[in-house]
Amino acid sequence: MRQIWPPHEAQELDDDALERLYTYPDRRWVTVNFVSSADGALELGGRAVALSNEPDQRVLRLGSDLADVLIVGATTAMVEEFVGAHPDEATAQRRRRHGLAPVPPTAVVTTGSLPLDAPVITQAEVPTIVLTTESAPVHARDGWRDAGATVLVVGERTVDLVAAVDALAERGLRRVDSEGGAHLFGAMLAAGVVDELRLTVSPMLVSGVAGRIAAGVPIEPARLELASLVAAQDTLLARYLVRR
Ligand SMILES: NC(=O)c1ccc[n+]([C@@H]2O[C@H](COP(=O)([O-])OP(=O)(O)OC[C@H]3O[C@@H](n4cnc5c(N)ncnc54)[C@H](OP(=O)(O)O)[C@@H]3O)[C@@H](O)[C@H]2O)c1
Repeated sequence: MRQIWPPHEAQELDDDALERLYTYPDRRWVTVNFVSSADGALELGGRAVALSNEPDQRVLRLGSDLADVLIVGATTAMVEEFVGAHPDEATAQRRRRHGLAPVPPTAVVTTGSLPLDAPVITQAEVPTIVLTTESAPVHARDGWRDAGATVLVVGERTVDLVAAVDALAERGLRRVDSEGGAHLFGAMLAAGVVDELRLTVSPMLVSGVAGRIAAGVPIEPARLELASLVAAQDTLLARYLVRR
């Protein structure tokens, strides 16, 4: 892997240098990870994994390894078969080195579609956090709790993502790694809570009807600053900062 931007930091990246590049700032920080085909598709055959490759998986893993908490939309949690983080020894060592809790919880945003027996709740090592609304059925909130989740009500009809990020920070979960999907990203952008986008451009053209990485209500266009660009053969891995 070679860092090619900014020009004065152009260098070959060994594991340590890549980890340094992808370490979160030591403060509240919300990062969003996506892989896209070169023609802008966010999935292939309904899953992101078909667009992903080894360099993308490396930076995705750094995103979760170095975060306090992962956050996903209910659809992504199910479609991408999230089961909570299960750190291997390398991740456990990395997290110890960075003074992080052994296992980052996963937070799922939902108004009720998340099944009570979702594997992201039932197979998690530490309690999954369900970020939901007052409008969510009481039996669903009770059911998620009974299945082992921590249920936080943050919003009336939709999850108030500013309040959600605040609620996570109050629990010491400041560095947030969003792993999708598009509607959650659109809602996060509308709420103005995104600090960084980590976008892998996969060297593929897929055409078809796949959506883009952000969806939902239109927003005032957000300006991005390219913080770093890494090339791994044909794959481009960008880190953009969202200008406020
Ligand atoms: N290329 C990539 O890197 C990547 C990454 C992740 C996912 N994906 C793909 O993205 C697709 C899924 O994306 P998606 O946009 O359909 O779903 P999504 O964003 O993962 O989840 C949408 C659901 O999240 C909940 N949600 C989101 N924002 C909310 C808010 N503000 N308040 C309350 N609930 C909120 C809602 O759940 P309720 O219906 O329960 O209200 C909504 O239906 C899949 O095809 C997946 O493979 C791609």
